[in-house]
Amino acid sequence: MPRDELLDPTPTPEERSRAGLAGPPAGDTGDEGGLRPRTLGEFVGQAELKERLGIILEAARARQQAADHLLFAGPPGLGKTTLAGIVATELGAHLHITSGPAILRAGDLASILTKLEAGDVLFIDEIHRLPRVVEEVLYPAMEDLQLDVLLGKGPAARSIRFDLEPFTLVGATTRTGLITGPLRDRFGFAFRLDYYDEGDLEQIVLRAGDVLAVEIDESGAAEIAGRSRGTPRIANRLLRRVRDFAEVRSKGLVDRETAADGLALFGVDERGLDKVDRMLLGNLCERFSGGPVGLSTLAISIGEPAETVEEVIEPFLIQQGLLLRTPRGRVATVAAWRHLGLQAPDPSVVAPDVSTLFD
Ligand SMILES: Nc1ncnc2c1ncn2[C@@H]1O[C@H](COP(=O)(O)OP(=O)(O)O)[C@@H](O)[C@H]1O
Ligand SMILES: [Mg+2]
Repeated sequence: MPRDELLDPTPTPEERSRAGLAGPPAGDTGDEGGLRPRTLGEFVGQAELKERLGIILEAARARQQAADHLLFAGPPGLGKTTLAGIVATELGAHLHITSGPAILRAGDLASILTKLEAGDVLFIDEIHRLPRVVEEVLYPAMEDLQLDVLLGKGPAARSIRFDLEPFTLVGATTRTGLITGPLRDRFGFAFRLDYYDEGDLEQIVLRAGDVLAVEIDESGAAEIAGRSRGTPRIANRLLRRVRDFAEVRSKGLVDRETAADGLALFGVDERGLDKVDRMLLGNLCERFSGGPVGLSTLAISIGEPAETVEEVIEPFLIQQGLLLRTPRGRVATVAAWRHLGLQAPDPSVVAPDVSTLFD
């Protein structure tokens, strides 16, 4: 069963095109319908990251030099692309956008790099998906502003060296673990984005409500925030759905009740779980007695690739204290049984509710 599009943290084709990320030529606005914050000041939450990044950017600006290469890692929808845009804006630099899978050959990268002007920002999304041969061209470019291009083939081949203008590479990846050591080492700073708390998400929803001219009060924003899985992209998407619902069913104002009714109608429960999450937890509890069960077995039971289960579905369930990864397999917590309205088996055989462990 495919994940409900509403709660999938990766951009929909429509959002990609709004963001200027779909196909060439890549736009440079990086704007999901005007919602993308443009400056660090507009970027909500991630206080520690903002403070450090702010200092790096301000120092680079004062020295009138390109900033160090920056890596943003974290789950989809938390603001990596947004931050790449902000870096360029704050540096007053041109932003060039590309992605790992779009750069197939070393020559593709060479042509991008030689077009960069002094101080430009090059954003490579999904940088962990760069082909290895391309990655090797990137190393000397990042380190010494040198580009080595191999011309011709076989014994007649010769290598030409180009000098590049100073630039800032901004990389984004969903998992730092997927980046090779040599590449990671060439970034001056690596930032990790974490899921947002409800207070931050509430602010993001209120801000988006402003931009989209949605009449929404704090209780409505809080209700949407609570169901957004810690992810701004989802918060914005739920807001659009609730706006539609409010326009049709009520007088247009989004308050707590309208938000709750609207989201229930679209299959998003109070914790932001959708039918795929509930199916995964339901199978784990009912078919596999709460686990432990191996990842691949669990994935097959809901008809999703193991990779999707591990990277997209599980992180949120783990963060919510509903699921545990143990050396012997996946285990449902007491909270999971409870959330599904099921009777948990004998407490001695079930994983504890991690959210109450430290009370
Ligand atoms: N900190 C934030 N404050 C406000 N809006 C945000 C923030 N982070 C992300 N967003 C919103 O969420 C959407 C997705 O962010 P994006 O940068 O595309 O995520 P990622 O590249 O990590 O998948 C953006 O359109 C933006 O409107
Ligand atoms: Mg992105």
